[in-house]
Amino acid sequence: MSEIIIKNPNEVFGCAEAQSLLIKKDIIHATGNVESLIAQSPDAEIIDAEGTVIIPGFVDCHTHLVFAGSRENELFKRAAGRPYLEILEAGGGIHNTVKAVHQATEDELVENGRHFLDYALKMGITTIEIKSGYGLDYDNELKMLKAIARLKTEHAVDIVPTYLVHSVPKGVDRNTYLDEVADRMIPDFKQYAQWFDIFIEKGVFSIEEGERLIKKAKAEGYKIGFHTNQVNDLGGVMLAERMGATHIDHLETLSDADANAIIKNKDLYAVFLPTAEGLVFSEHTGRIDKLMEIPERIILSSDFNPGSSPVLNPLFVMKAALMRYRISDPHLLVRSMTSNPARMLGFTDRGVIAAGKKADLLLLDVKNIEQIPYYASFPIIRQVIKNGELY
Ligand code: NIG
Ligand code: FE
Repeated sequence: MSEIIIKNPNEVFGCAEAQSLLIKKDIIHATGNVESLIAQSPDAEIIDAEGTVIIPGFVDCHTHLVFAGSRENELFKRAAGRPYLEILEAGGGIHNTVKAVHQATEDELVENGRHFLDYALKMGITTIEIKSGYGLDYDNELKMLKAIARLKTEHAVDIVPTYLVHSVPKGVDRNTYLDEVADRMIPDFKQYAQWFDIFIEKGVFSIEEGERLIKKAKAEGYKIGFHTNQVNDLGGVMLAERMGATHIDHLETLSDADANAIIKNKDLYAVFLPTAEGLVFSEHTGRIDKLMEIPERIILSSDFNPGSSPVLNPLFVMKAALMRYRISDPHLLVRSMTSNPARMLGFTDRGVIAAGKKADLLLLDVKNIEQIPYYASFPIIRQVIKNGELY
């Protein structure tokens, strides 16, 4: 069906008055009172939205959705007090998923990815970023990027692929690996990914190594966002400054000077991952409190992955953020998973509800905006609309 009128919601996020919406094909064609929309489009199918709040589809800008295997055993080791980085150091963590990915075929990665993407759409995610990063060596990283590319062509959810340099593979000489990433992988993988990411952390990649690879990635035309300041502050924020990064993610350790640098840099977004913090039982909390004067550049994301965050549910992420960060503005919680990440990723056609924008919408069974985080643990998603299609 190509024309739909969504009639009489309680509220439409970002609109002063509750308005009905006319959707033509994949676009919000007009907003207004229902009679005027019916006059414009008498044959449109009418969906009764009474009792709902309409918000834009979620944009989840940091995920590791393509992988194989699972690591529930590590969750309980961490619960018992074993640190995330210690498990990694001992050859577990990311390396366990790397083993599973090496054993999986490209088809199996696509199949697993499809399963989780179907679920993502049910949970209201209409645009998603997906990182590679569990292949590590050339062939397996390429296998992951090809799997992501296939999902991008076949799935309704819009996918933004990222090449992630996640760790040095076990048993490989560090310098040999860094050379291969710089000389072969970064240039060759550009055709599969517009974005480049690296895990800057003690025992993973240093600032100097990050600087070298990010410089190369920039020269090849990638946009930059990276994992930093999760457990240790190695100077990732200044690296982001020097490299002209678009976003930095985790930020559980953040000095005042670095927070001020982020505030001053209008092109730099801060991505917080509350479920990953919670599920690695971090002693720290993402320092969103230091960035409250730049609400338009605060982002929340699921960080969905088989290790630190087996969570693919934006409403749950919002609730975790509310609890961890004490965010007192419900509008900020919604924007940090819709308009803010859409703008950060460079999309001008989504993340807000207005005539001319993409018809990526969620009809939520709540009375008002405040009830979205309040009732976030209930099945409040009545209807997901992606590109004007009902799911
Ligand atoms: O964002 N911190 C690094 N990378 C991921 C976790 C990856 C994994 O544990 O498999 C993260 O937390
Ligand atoms: Fe991550």
